[in-house]
Amino acid sequence: MHEITGLDSMRAWSRAEKGRGRRIGFVPTMGYLHEGHLRLVDHARQRTDRVVMSVFVNPLQFGPKEDFTTYPRDIARDRGLAAGRGVDVLFVPEGKAMYPTEPMARVVPGPMAEVFEGAARPGHFAGVLTVVAKLFHLVEPDIAVFGRKDFQQAMLVRRMVLDLDFPIEVEVVPTVRELDGLALSSRNAYLNPDERRAALALSRALRAVEQAWRGGQADAVELQRRSIEVLKAPGVNPEYLALVDENLQPVARPNARTVVVTAATVGATRLIDNVVLGEGIAADPTVRAA
Ligand code: PAF
Repeated sequence: MHEITGLDSMRAWSRAEKGRGRRIGFVPTMGYLHEGHLRLVDHARQRTDRVVMSVFVNPLQFGPKEDFTTYPRDIARDRGLAAGRGVDVLFVPEGKAMYPTEPMARVVPGPMAEVFEGAARPGHFAGVLTVVAKLFHLVEPDIAVFGRKDFQQAMLVRRMVLDLDFPIEVEVVPTVRELDGLALSSRNAYLNPDERRAALALSRALRAVEQAWRGGQADAVELQRRSIEVLKAPGVNPEYLALVDENLQPVARPNARTVVVTAATVGATRLIDNVVLGEGIAADPTVRAA
């Protein structure tokens, strides 16, 4: 595995590979890798000839009171995991190279970014789309792979690619869960054992909606009402739970493609999760509960 830090070197590598007829898959991350990120690599490897993974904790997408400085980082461990999974290039740009000055021009994500995560974290998605646009220009991938765990983010990236004519296919890979249902997230590292147990309320609430829907309940308001009760577990502060389509618009009569999105705070940690009704929540037998 090569490690590249320079922006020009990254672009030069990609162009040279493309010149040899190779297709490039790209997995953007903020590091502190877990199995969820590595599944994105697996997907990229199946679809392309070379895989680039970026590790960059992007200051632009953190609010002033958020965890930019304390966000978990372990580049040595990330290197080992990425190399072990077949990443060809680990792109680790420095903050000063990415943002030599405070950027003036940014991507405006539009109304889809004003609800749910965007409402809770003002400016977050402008920061995400701005860095993703920059990374796309530097890596020039054919395919970029995102996790469905960050559903709103993935839909916004898709929309940006469409609206701004990036010649890139965006692929979205299902969430990886621990055996007990907890969705993998770098922020799970913040949870103490009691909080980790409490955090299972999110996947339980999603499972409750899915089961009620499969059982014949077709009214979104009723599905939402029941599952919020499940989310209101001790130690859990529910923020939202809603049934939406891929444009993050509310759905009154859910179908198999409807996505249930939820967020809650457990202790000091804000967690998000979602389920596509037609797919359901499957614990992954290869991932052991912490
Ligand atoms: O999902 C993430 O890890 C980040 O939001 C991303 C897409 C790498 C942009 O910083």
